[in-house]
Amino acid sequence: MQVLVLYHSDYGNTEKMAQAIAKGAEAVDDRVRARLLPVGNATPDDLVAADVIFLGSPVHMGTMAWKVKKLIDDCGKLWLEGALANKVAGIFATGGGLGNAGGGVELTMISLFANALEHGMIAVGFPKSLPGYADGGLHWGAYARCANAEGMPQPISDQALLAGRSYGAHVTEVALRFRDGADE
Ligand SMILES: Cc1cc2nc3c(=O)[nH]c(=O)nc-3n(C[C@H](O)[C@H](O)[C@H](O)COP(=O)(O)O)c2cc1C
Repeated sequence: MQVLVLYHSDYGNTEKMAQAIAKGAEAVDDRVRARLLPVGNATPDDLVAADVIFLGSPVHMGTMAWKVKKLIDDCGKLWLEGALANKVAGIFATGGGLGNAGGGVELTMISLFANALEHGMIAVGFPKSLPGYADGGLHWGAYARCANAEGMPQPISDQALLAGRSYGAHVTEVALRFRDGADE
């Protein structure tokens, strides 16, 4: 099973979350191969080749980074063909999180979710029973707040990376169950 972890990262937080997700995915089963790929290096063919696609972004100006949206838009032909339909998708984000509304993280994650659903993918959320949920989970997917209350940057926490690993494993387990069930 091919797991593709797509992300954009300027300062390394989202990349570390992507690495945690890939690690969690590979820990599920020997049949799983996870590939990390910055969105700027990804082509539509990379998405077609994957069974599971994670899409991650830092929160930029209240929503996803434009490079992530560019890749999604560049995959418009795949939407016409239905080439991503029934692939399993997961989403993740990191942000500074200022303000009671989280600085736009929910809009970021909902937008990522919407884009996966638009392609007909089976998008999987983050159940609160998973390890790390309290610090690194939103029901949409894995999230890390990487700033303190004054808005100063903070390194991504171990708890958020735990959430990334458990979410990576969870989405991959769902995909394996879906595929194994289809083979029966
Ligand atoms: C251009 C820019 C805009 C940002 N806008 C927001 C924002 O609207 N809300 C927020 O919570 N964080 C915002 N941040 C903070 C980043 O989301 C946060 O530092 C994130 O963890 C950076 O991820 P990275 O290390 O993978 O680049 C912004 C950062 C940059 C560079």
